[in-house]
Amino acid sequence: MNITFNLNGKDVSIEVRPDKRLSSILRDDLNLKGVRKGCGTGHCGSCIILLDDLLVSSCQIPAFASRHKKIITIEGLSQSREFNDILSGFKEAGVHLCAYCAPARIISTAYMLRKHIMPTEEQIIDNISSVQCRCSSFSHLKNGIIQASIHYNRRKSNG
Ligand code: FES
Ligand code: FES
Repeated sequence: MNITFNLNGKDVSIEVRPDKRLSSILRDDLNLKGVRKGCGTGHCGSCIILLDDLLVSSCQIPAFASRHKKIITIEGLSQSREFNDILSGFKEAGVHLCAYCAPARIISTAYMLRKHIMPTEEQIIDNISSVQCRCSSFSHLKNGIIQASIHYNRRKSNG
């Protein structure tokens, strides 16, 4: 079956098998390696993307369900100013994200900041738990997100 979607701002047409997951199409067929291979069961969050502006685990989405939708992966998000806000915040807090969770962590943080410009502690905890991390501590991640929200907020307030 041939499907079309908008991927990181560009229309893409691709042939997909009905049993293919969106994560596999993005990573293997379209070479977007920022979509990490993880558990494949919807638990680790490493394959997180934005699908029509919603945060989803792409390993849980049949590829055909992305037809006519808008997909943003870390490769697309990295062109945005919010990406720089998040990196600056993490850097200031001394968070060094490794390649395993960085793409998903940055996307999930961007999603939260779009919804909650100054997130509450509960929202930050929810956000941190949406992506498994093997090497950064909870308190480091929390400080990084708080710093990221300060950058994001400041830029938004300055228009
Ligand atoms: S690989 Fe998709 S949630 Fe783990
Ligand atoms: S920083 Fe390594 S898994 Fe999160």
